[in-house]
Amino acid sequence: MQTHEIRERFTQHFVKAGHTAVPSASLILEDPDLLFVNAGMVPFKPYFLGQQNPPYPNGTATSIQKCVRTLDIDEVGITTRHNTFFQMAGNFSFGQYFKEGAITHAWELLTSSIEDGGYGLDPERLWATVYLDDDEAAEIWEKKIGLPAERIQRLGMADNYWHMGVPGPCGPCSEIYYDRGPEHGQEGGPAVDDTRYLEIWNLVFMEKERGQSTGPDSFEILGDLPKKNIDTGMGVERVAALLQGVDNVYETDLLRPVIDAAQEITGAEYGTDDTADVRFRVIADHSRTGMMLILDGVTPANEGRGYILRRLLRRIVRSARLLGATGETLEQFMTVIMDTMTPSYPEIADNRERITRVAVAEERAFLRTLESGTHRFDEAATKTRGTGAKVFSGEEAFTLHDTYGFPIDLTLEMAAEAGLEVDVAGFEAAMSEQRARAKADNLAKKHGHADESVYREWVDNNPTEFVGFSELTADAKILGLVADGVSVTHAAAGDEIEVILDVSPMYAESGGQLGDRGRLVTDGTILDVTDVQKIGKRLWVHKATVVSGGLDLGQSVRAEVDADWRHGATQAHTATHLIHAALRQVLGPTAVQAGSLNRPGYLRFDFNYTEQLSPAQLEEIALITNQAVDSNLAVNTIETSLDEAKKMGAMALFGENYGDDVRVVEIGGPFSIELCGGTHVDSSAQIGPVAVLGESSVGSGARRIEAYSGMDSFKYLSKETALATGLAASLKAPTEELPDRVAQLTEKLRAAEKEIANLHRQQLAAQTGALVEQATEVGKFTVLTHRLPDGVSGGDLRTVATDLRGRLAGRPGVVVLASAEGEKLPFIVGATKEAVELGVKSGELVKLLSGYVDGRGGGKPDMAQGSGSKPAGLDAGFHALREELAGR
Ligand code: SER
Repeated sequence: MQTHEIRERFTQHFVKAGHTAVPSASLILEDPDLLFVNAGMVPFKPYFLGQQNPPYPNGTATSIQKCVRTLDIDEVGITTRHNTFFQMAGNFSFGQYFKEGAITHAWELLTSSIEDGGYGLDPERLWATVYLDDDEAAEIWEKKIGLPAERIQRLGMADNYWHMGVPGPCGPCSEIYYDRGPEHGQEGGPAVDDTRYLEIWNLVFMEKERGQSTGPDSFEILGDLPKKNIDTGMGVERVAALLQGVDNVYETDLLRPVIDAAQEITGAEYGTDDTADVRFRVIADHSRTGMMLILDGVTPANEGRGYILRRLLRRIVRSARLLGATGETLEQFMTVIMDTMTPSYPEIADNRERITRVAVAEERAFLRTLESGTHRFDEAATKTRGTGAKVFSGEEAFTLHDTYGFPIDLTLEMAAEAGLEVDVAGFEAAMSEQRARAKADNLAKKHGHADESVYREWVDNNPTEFVGFSELTADAKILGLVADGVSVTHAAAGDEIEVILDVSPMYAESGGQLGDRGRLVTDGTILDVTDVQKIGKRLWVHKATVVSGGLDLGQSVRAEVDADWRHGATQAHTATHLIHAALRQVLGPTAVQAGSLNRPGYLRFDFNYTEQLSPAQLEEIALITNQAVDSNLAVNTIETSLDEAKKMGAMALFGENYGDDVRVVEIGGPFSIELCGGTHVDSSAQIGPVAVLGESSVGSGARRIEAYSGMDSFKYLSKETALATGLAASLKAPTEELPDRVAQLTEKLRAAEKEIANLHRQQLAAQTGALVEQATEVGKFTVLTHRLPDGVSGGDLRTVATDLRGRLAGRPGVVVLASAEGEKLPFIVGATKEAVELGVKSGELVKLLSGYVDGRGGGKPDMAQGSGSKPAGLDAGFHALREELAGR
């Protein structure tokens, strides 16, 4: 049974039982605790915690969630049970059915026949585990399902108590295992062997809420959840391996084709060598995870999610090379994995070109560092061998890892080829030092954000009502005051305070638009609001300074948005949508938004694109944008369902988690349709002019356009005009002639510089004639030692010396010239043929002189050059040189 069908059957089973089918959320859901969505329940967290009501008619839902777990990338492929990307099929009950419902639903799907829509697994092969004291679950398995008691095992916290690893809902769980038979390991059930007995489904009885960790494996239980819930997760890949009768997840229809492609590209064979097999599996696993991450908008970077993607892609490249690939490989791997995954994720079809482009750009970048890294490795290896040592330093291996992206096994392999061992312990030590640093950084970052628990009660019970789409002022009540992360009851003049209101007209920062500025006013009291942030998407926190008076909890205030600020931010936000639409017209639909920022008068827009934009493309984008302004397009906002919005063709930002009800902002009908919660002008002409400042790169695969809007655009343009007018006045030319005039001037300047250099040379040459008169007889030689004026270049020095030497021809002549250039003293020695015949070697004389001016140099017998760093020693040097010649 193909994976796609396994997914379908799962969804159908639960839809028939009244569950609402919910599409998978993006892998990069906004959750400060999670890098990626790592379980099916993550998008449902607020419903479990009772923060929001589940919007499903029967209070139950089912999903097949994309998940990524990258805790230990280095372990991938060594075991064959885990993938960094996997699909978790789940059913969820929010206060509806509990243990019995969950167990029965799962059992039915697993064991009903294929004809009846089930998976047709042999019930005799299934085992269950329950939490130590969970008699209720054990009894359901035994009495209701009829599972023999010896196939129900009880396990402790580590196995049968599920939590997210971070604060959130949790509870005991019951896991279902499939016995793959004696050829896979020993008897005794999952408690004894979890390779033979493969876990396929985890049923979590969510009833508690956990707090912060209190130790490596312990945490505080904060209390009961408002309701008893069910969260289950079935591993789609594992069930596929069982139903496809293959040994493990790498052999299934989704991943095996990548292994086959890797065999073809590298010439190596899968299944013949353990080390090579791990590499094949790394390629298959990472190709899929990498592809799915790019699909969801991640681009390679040096930190965060982007870094994980970078590591994954580089590990593929390196693994393929170690298997024997010589050229680029990622395009082929991406193509194969996109083919296998598209039936389940049709959105891949529209993103093929972009996914390949991002992956290939990263591969090329890595291949370049691979080269310099290899160079560095070779140097270090030669040095190591040169000292007679046999061990390659761990520090050096770490640098290769850290700076050149060399995973340790690549270094190990290369070292072995060079006949060296690697100080792995030293490498590990450097790695753990780095990890400790990273951890400390993370902690510091965490503490930088106020602990959000203080807002918890308000988020749950009294979220803020936002009225700012239609109102700029509102009468509100102070629900909470927070100072330095602590809830307080009063704020006095001069205090910085966070104010929580029941109603607010102020826009809280989101979707790239900065929070409003404004004031909170009540009798004799004024607060300046400097920022507004949202907590849990529902609570408005106004960061403010008490300018005068004082403030008490429960008091009424009038909240006023700074109308100018809002006007400017609104113009910039709508302008961003216009630029986005123009960009897609010019670059095509693969220019996917990667982020944006709008504040009054200014906007920036980041998008995934690997090439630099040409001036003509930028000009076209600016033109389309300003034409849209000029056409005074109507801006409409429509509240609708996510499905409807998609049908309208709305562009959604990757990585955003949209609820079921979304807001669509439409400008000029089809010109621009986006999902957006920001504030917008009513019609495009209200934006005023948009001045595009330029574009730049923001890391691998992403570019940024910046622009001014409204009056700031005008100010910018008039400043530019003033500049051009000023230039025109000083050049006495109309502005349109400026580029030509500047080009002419530059050309003239260049010619003049050349001319000056020529004159300089001629002047020197004229002096040469007089100089030769200064030559004196020293023993057998005619010698000229002379310090020319400062600033004669090395090349000119040579010209003059050659000329003088020519004038001394026929005699045993020696010419020595020097000229200081700042701290440096270039000098030259020339000897005539006759002098050379008498044994003069210019190079030796340069060395002699060098000793007096702290210099170095050398050359041929008839001409040698040097440079010193102590011009003050020159006279003594000349003297010594003459003495030397006199003695010959
Ligand atoms: N949340 C549980 C898990 O991830 C079950 O879905 O295993």
